[in-house]
Amino acid sequence: MAYSNQVIDHYENPRNVGKMSDDDASVGTGMVGAPACGDVMRLQIKVSDQGVIEDAKFKTYGCGSAIASSSLITEWVKGMTLDQAAELKNTQIAEELALPPVKIHCSVLAEDAIKAAIDDYKNKQAK
Ligand code: FES
Ligand code: FES
Repeated sequence: MAYSNQVIDHYENPRNVGKMSDDDASVGTGMVGAPACGDVMRLQIKVSDQGVIEDAKFKTYGCGSAIASSSLITEWVKGMTLDQAAELKNTQIAEELALPPVKIHCSVLAEDAIKAAIDDYKNKQAK
């Protein structure tokens, strides 16, 4: 199966790979797995007092499309409010990366991961 140029670009030059400290109250971590293939994605956001995402990092153990999806979404969410980031849809990622049908679940992983990171951040704030 052929990967699109956008997938190859993000796969070869992934943006925002890394890890932030979970102890930091301004950091939210989302960890999700894809039942379809067993791949795992960890996505983290750092949120300002104003509720704006200042930084995002990811680590993905998975296929090229999953890595590209997480790389792309970390770029998109920087500068967004939590509400804006929560509205991102996997279909936007799939469209941007021109993912074929069998790779749609890789983009779902990225949508789920960002939502999980936002939830984690909100839970931390509630404490
Ligand atoms: Fe998960 Fe592609 S099936 S790596
Ligand atoms: Fe399973 Fe991409 S995340 S094939």
